[in-house]
Amino acid sequence: MLKDPSFFIKTFGCQQNSADSERVASYYLARGYKLAKNLKSATEIIINTCMVRQSAEDKVTGFIKNIVKNKKHRLKIVLTGCMVGMIKRDQTGKYLRILKKRIPEVDEFLPLEEVGFDYSSVRSDPLHAWVPISNGCNNFCTYCVVPFTRGREVSRPFADIISEIEDLAKNGCSEITLLGQNVNSYGSDLVKKKSKGYKLPSGETVKPIMVKHLGRLRIPTLFPYLLEEVCKIKGIKTVKFISSNPWDFSDELVKVISQNPKIDRNIHLPIQSGDDQILKKMNRWYSSKEYLALVKKIKSKIRNAQISTDIIVGFCGENEKQFQNTVKIAKKVNFAYAYISKYSPRPNTVASKAFENDVPHAEKEHRFYILDQLINHKGSPRTAVH
Ligand code: SAH
Ligand code: SF4
Ligand code: F3S
Repeated sequence: MLKDPSFFIKTFGCQQNSADSERVASYYLARGYKLAKNLKSATEIIINTCMVRQSAEDKVTGFIKNIVKNKKHRLKIVLTGCMVGMIKRDQTGKYLRILKKRIPEVDEFLPLEEVGFDYSSVRSDPLHAWVPISNGCNNFCTYCVVPFTRGREVSRPFADIISEIEDLAKNGCSEITLLGQNVNSYGSDLVKKKSKGYKLPSGETVKPIMVKHLGRLRIPTLFPYLLEEVCKIKGIKTVKFISSNPWDFSDELVKVISQNPKIDRNIHLPIQSGDDQILKKMNRWYSSKEYLALVKKIKSKIRNAQISTDIIVGFCGENEKQFQNTVKIAKKVNFAYAYISKYSPRPNTVASKAFENDVPHAEKEHRFYILDQLINHKGSPRTAVH
C-alpha cells in the first residue's frame, strides 16, 4: 500500500538554517504533506545543508550515504540550504557537477528562495523563537562561502519583523533571537533605496547619509532602532541576536543595549584572528587594537557584558607569531567561550583561489587545542600535555 506523503527534516549548520527549516516545514504542510514523527515513517527527507567548512559538507554526504544504506522503503531525498544556494549561484555549473557525482542519491534540489519568507514558521519551542531579520552577506571575508551560498544581504522590512514578533508574543513566546549573518548591518540596504530616508513605524526617518565608522564611510543601519522597537513589545522578556560583525558595532548600538535590560548581555563578536596582517588578508575591516577598544567600550558601558567569539586557526600563511597574537588577544579579552575552526578552503572564495592552504593539518589541530584549552577550558596552554 502506498504511504501518504509525509516529510522529515534534518538540519545541519547554523541557527539561520534552524529558522529556515521551520519555514520549509510550513511550505511542505501547505503542499498537503504530513509531518512525520521520525525518518523511518517519512516518505520524503529534506536535508538542510551547511558548507561553511569542508567538515560540514562531509557530514551531509555521510548522512546521505548512511540513510541510503539503511533505508528499507522508497525514500525521496531532497537537498536544500546552503549547498543548494551554492548550486543556484555558481554559474559555471561546476559545483552541481561535483555534487551529482558525490551524492547521486539526491532526488531533488530545493532552493530556499522557493520557500521565501512568507510562510509562517512551524515552531517547536513555544517560549523561544528564531527570527531572521536579513539573509545573505555583503562582507566577503576571503575565507567565507556564505556570500556565495546565501547571496547578497537582503533585509526584511522593519514592520514585517515587528508584526511577526508581536504575534509571537501574543502566543506566549517570551524570548527571541534575531538572526542574520551580520545583524548589525540590518537595514542599510533599505535605507539606501530611499533617497528621502527610511520611515520607521515610530515616524522617525533614517537618512541615507554617509557616516564615518572605524575609518570607513558607511550608511547608517537600522539595527539599533529595530532592537529598541522589539524591546517595547509586551510579553517579550529577552532579546538575543547573532551574529555581529565588529566593524558594524556602532556607538548607537552600544547605547541601545545599555539602556534596554531585556537585551541579553552575552554578546557574540567574532574576531577570527588577533593578528592585523591576517585580519587584512581575511578582509575583516578592523585591527586587533580596534577590536580591543570596542570590547573595552562594550564592557564599560554595558553592565555585566560578556563577549564570546569565533576564531579560525591555520588560515593561509598564518605563522606561529601571528597565531600567538590571537592567543594574546584572547587572554586580554577573556572570552566567555569561542567557536574555533580549522581553516578549510571553500569553493569560489578569494582565499581558495589566491592563497595557499599551507598550514599543515597537525599544526591546525595544535593551534585549535591551545586556544580551546585557554578559552573554553580556562586552562593555561603552557602546561597542556600535547
Ligand atoms: N556571519 C558570521 C559567521 C558565519 S560563518 C560572522 O561573520 O560572524 C561561522 C564561522 O565559521 C565563522 O565565524 C568562521 O569562524 C567559520 N568559518 C567560515 N569560513 C570558514 C572556513 N573556510 N574555514 C574554517 N572556518 C570557517
Ligand atoms: Fe562570512 Fe564574513 Fe559574511 Fe560572516 S561577515 S557570513 S564570515 S563573509
Ligand atoms: Fe552553514 Fe550556511 Fe549557516 S554555510 S553556517 S548553514 S549560513
